[in-house]
Amino acid sequence: MKLIIDTDPGVDDAMAIALAHAMPEIDLIGLTACFGNTFVSQSSRNARYICDLLGFAVPVAEGASLPYGETDYVPSANVHGPEGLGNIETISQIGKNIDESAAAFLVRMAAEHKGELVVCAVAPLTNIADALALDPAFASNVKELVIMGGAYQHNGNITPYAEANIFHDAKAADAVFAADIPIKMIGLDATMLTLLTPHDFHELALHAPKIGGFIEHISKFYLEFYRSVGVMTGCPMHDATAVLACTHPENFTFEEVGLRVVLDGKEIGQTIADDTRPRVQVAVSVAGKWAVDLFKERIVSLG
Ligand code: BDR
Ligand code: CA
Repeated sequence: MKLIIDTDPGVDDAMAIALAHAMPEIDLIGLTACFGNTFVSQSSRNARYICDLLGFAVPVAEGASLPYGETDYVPSANVHGPEGLGNIETISQIGKNIDESAAAFLVRMAAEHKGELVVCAVAPLTNIADALALDPAFASNVKELVIMGGAYQHNGNITPYAEANIFHDAKAADAVFAADIPIKMIGLDATMLTLLTPHDFHELALHAPKIGGFIEHISKFYLEFYRSVGVMTGCPMHDATAVLACTHPENFTFEEVGLRVVLDGKEIGQTIADDTRPRVQVAVSVAGKWAVDLFKERIVSLG
């Protein structure tokens, strides 16, 4: 499967990129960077840093720095650390971004791999909305868009109503859910079932000192954040769960519904059912233990 990850690394984004690299089912052909957990320049820098650590070269295209419309956007440094990768304070600039915007790269890759390309969007949906606006054929050229975002029956995580990726650009997300594009939404209903414990991270570091050790290191900050909000057992592997939905949808339970996003007021960013919208596959559950075990197995294979 040809895959592009649209990302804002981000601790769980780093896990998702490493997992995609480790999956024999996936041919990871590029990363597109968006603002979100970090400012977009940090997102693209971190994406290149992670690829270098993983020892593979892949184009990184930088995209949106701000959401659609007016904003009081601030990065989620309290969740992912000041530079996006936990307690790491200095992250080298390795390589450079390609000379093409994220949206232009997505549009070009979708046309070149018509009917084959899966886009796994694990950041605010601004780059995806930009790609849809840039090329009307983008929606039909991509095979599927798999989104980490939204909360269907679950509470939000950045507000009681909204999940962070949708909240950071409610307008872009609403435009994406209005488009005629095959979508799987892997929201908090599924990702809060895939918790990695400190013991899981310890095992990763033990059996895969380089990549597993890096993941264990950056996860300390992320685990601490989840503990501070009352999730005591571990931290959700949100974005990696979306990667697994690309390759193993049979281990998820989906409901087919149209969705819209609340665009203002205190419920801004909430994803709610709307019969007038194109139907998307909303994950309401996943085999959580299976997801955690497969994640660990594949990361260990990286060494
Ligand atoms: C999502 O928001 C970000 O903080 C994570 O990287 C993930 O994509 C979870 O709500
Ligand atoms: Ca993310």
